Amino acid sequence: MARAEFQSPPGTRDITEPDASRARQLIALFAEEARRAGFGRIEPPMFEDVGVFVRLGEASDVVSKELYAFEDKGGRTIALRPEFTASVCRAFVQHRPLTPWKTWYEGPAFRYDKPQKGRYRQFAQLGVEVIGSDDPDIDTEVIALAHRLLQRVGLTGHTLIINSLGDFADRPGYLSALTDYFEARIGELTDQAKATLAINPLRVLDSKRPGDAAVAEEAPTIIDHLSAEASAAFERVKDGLATLDIPFVVNPRLVRGLDYYTRTTFEFASDSLDSAQNALGGGGRYDGLVEALGGPPEPGVGFSIGVDRVLLASDAEGVFPAPPSSVDVWVVATTDGTDGLGLVHELRSAGIAADRAYDGRSMKAQMKAANRSQAPVAVIVGEDEVSAGTVSVRTMRSAAGSAPGSDAGTPQQFQVDRSKLIETVRSLLS
Ligand code: HAM
Repeated sequence: MARAEFQSPPGTRDITEPDASRARQLIALFAEEARRAGFGRIEPPMFEDVGVFVRLGEASDVVSKELYAFEDKGGRTIALRPEFTASVCRAFVQHRPLTPWKTWYEGPAFRYDKPQKGRYRQFAQLGVEVIGSDDPDIDTEVIALAHRLLQRVGLTGHTLIINSLGDFADRPGYLSALTDYFEARIGELTDQAKATLAINPLRVLDSKRPGDAAVAEEAPTIIDHLSAEASAAFERVKDGLATLDIPFVVNPRLVRGLDYYTRTTFEFASDSLDSAQNALGGGGRYDGLVEALGGPPEPGVGFSIGVDRVLLASDAEGVFPAPPSSVDVWVVATTDGTDGLGLVHELRSAGIAADRAYDGRSMKAQMKAANRSQAPVAVIVGEDEVSAGTVSVRTMRSAAGSAPGSDAGTPQQFQVDRSKLIETVRSLLS
């Protein structure tokens, strides 16, 4: 086949069945869990003034390299959202809702990332943010919500990793200890890490390059530089997770890819995904972000989960199967097509999923289509049925039910009065 003139842009995909429905199913599960936990939905715009995202931290790749930014026709510099947290904080500052403000969201995000399996330029996130309370129990509840979603999906092969990055006031002491340490071992770092060190030494801890990782392994940890308050909050989160029976490991080198974090940070690392993109989701506190966006000094905490990665991990673990995609009834009509048109309409109006073949195909071709559809029931109408005021109902091999009085599962065909069609189909499907 000749290559089509246009392909979807690199890092984007056409998500079709079954993943399109699985993604919706995942979001429906999440919506239910979020509602139960007292969250309301927010749908922020997909693009914002670039400044909103620049506040995420210019030292992070998400801002410095991966923003889809452009000038619009009105001369504004706009960027497609690389994540939701900044937009939610911008919305908080704009609308000043009552606190704590608990919102959940889902939708596409855009990062000019290097495309690979599990890493796309357009990907879907779902998540929550809570703005206006620094109670560490909220951190625990937010983590518990993410944990519960992954549990409901059926995933088991992942680890919850947590850390505390302390308060802004804890940072300078730690950063200088960290900088001294890295400078003493500068010869062992890659050129990229040397460049990162000048901008944000924390990010060097995050380097996946083997040389850097070995040096980072022995670096001083933030845990030893936490203030008494940040330390007590971290203990409270750990105790809370233990109370809720949520297993976790503490990794003092977990820094995450965005610069706004303070205190609790966490990530769900999957064993079933490639190590460079094994995070199913992550989040943490960002107690300075609302203020950085021009708002009051309200603290915040939240997480985002990558929908695409949850589906990839589900495939690898053989969980979260696609919902059944077949219709319930396939209509085979060998009259002029009007009966087919009327029958599918009647079935659909009664809430029964029904489909049929078009283009005046032969009976044989239509029966083949019925088989291919995997619909459990076929409704057949030809001249005989029309003149008798009946329809033929056939249970297909896959049918759960069967004709009255027959062996379950064996294909059966019988005629019913046209007026009994819906009733008959309903009892066969139940
Ligand atoms: P993040 O770690 O940058 O955090 O992204 C969250 C999740 O989105 C990742 O764990 C991953 O599953 C998915 N993800 C990120 N980039 C890609 C990509 N290029 N392709 C596919 N999936 C991707 C945040 O976005 C923060 N806003 C989380 C947060 C909320 N922190 C506090 N509140």
